[in-house]
Amino acid sequence: MNDFWHGWVSILTISCLVLTVLVLWSSGRNQRKDLTEETTGHEYDGITEIDNPLPRWWVFLFIILLVFSVFYLCLYPGMGNWKGLLNWSSASELDRAQKKHNHRFAPQFERYYNNSFDELIDNPKAMQIGERIFINNCSVCHAIDAGGRFGFPNLRNNDWLFGGSPEQIEQTILHGRKGQMPAWKDMLSEKQIQQVAFYVRGLSNLTTNATATDLEQGKQIFHESCALCHNPEGTGNHLLGAPDLTNNIWLYGSSQIQVEYTIRNGRQGVMPAWQDVLGQHKVRIVAAYIYSLNQDAEDQDVANKNIEVE
Ligand code: HEC
Ligand code: HEC
Repeated sequence: MNDFWHGWVSILTISCLVLTVLVLWSSGRNQRKDLTEETTGHEYDGITEIDNPLPRWWVFLFIILLVFSVFYLCLYPGMGNWKGLLNWSSASELDRAQKKHNHRFAPQFERYYNNSFDELIDNPKAMQIGERIFINNCSVCHAIDAGGRFGFPNLRNNDWLFGGSPEQIEQTILHGRKGQMPAWKDMLSEKQIQQVAFYVRGLSNLTTNATATDLEQGKQIFHESCALCHNPEGTGNHLLGAPDLTNNIWLYGSSQIQVEYTIRNGRQGVMPAWQDVLGQHKVRIVAAYIYSLNQDAEDQDVANKNIEVE
């Protein structure tokens, strides 16, 4: 709230209180003390208003409420930017509720922490919890079935940027990962980018209209500029998160245009770190869940769908 609205709200609130006190005070002063049959002279549809004092209980209740409201406005945020003496806020309330909740359910997650990954994936209850954690935190990027989408890797096709052992998956989730594919537009000519893209797509047996010279040139460029990270065979490197370029699974699309775009401009996928958000106990369970998704061989064909965005 800026200063104007802060002032506006405060003045309105205080004026209302003062006005109410004044009305109460003036009506109390002018009122007669004894009961009467006299009317105030007001008449609506044949109903007359008798000029009696306000009932005492009503006046007391009014005063109590007024005093209450003054205390309330001192303790809680009710006037513009005033935070109140208790420093209450809906955010801190949520924070407290979350802490309480986490504290209460922590033992549920903790007790799985001493299990091995194999024990965890054989435990349906743990896997159910893992799925919940995944849906709540990860599905926005990796899709609800962990099948991924453009720029967000499929986590159930047993193809890994950073390695698929349970420990590697756990490290990925705990600390996050950054893919660093450099941009080549300043180092390679457009022709060279096209040639190396031909070569890379050829590694996945995608048909191209490249000439033999193009492919030969592309291969040479690949060995000079790309093999360091993607391996001379193009099979990738888990330490760097450099993808396997031979398996026709694509994070950023397989068309000639898309592959050229990737090489020309580079790609920097970011997987956020979850250690501070979820804590190590929950991370262990969700890591086991991801690992389990890759154990089911029958699932693989469905999961190996290519991510294609033109
Ligand atoms: C903001 C989007 C986002 C969210 C949320 C997210 N991820 Fe990721 N994740 C990514 C991206 C992008 C990558 C690929 C990084 C790269 O390109 O190098 C990735 C990579 C991964 C990998 C490595 C895959 C591989 O092939 O090695 C795993 C495992 C993973 N995420 C699991 C999770 C889990 C579990 C969660 C939830 C706790 C999660 N992710 C939440 C964006 C996200
Ligand atoms: C410094 C290491 C490094 C070098 C050198 C490198 N890359 Fe990459 N490349 C990566 C990484 C890491 C990724 C994954 C980026 C991400 O996850 O966001 C990647 C991604 C790609 C992709 C996208 C694959 C997909 O699944 O969509 C292609 C294509 C590619 N690189 C081709 C090349 C070519 C061609 C060269 C040489 C001209 C090259 N790279 C050089 C590290 C490298």
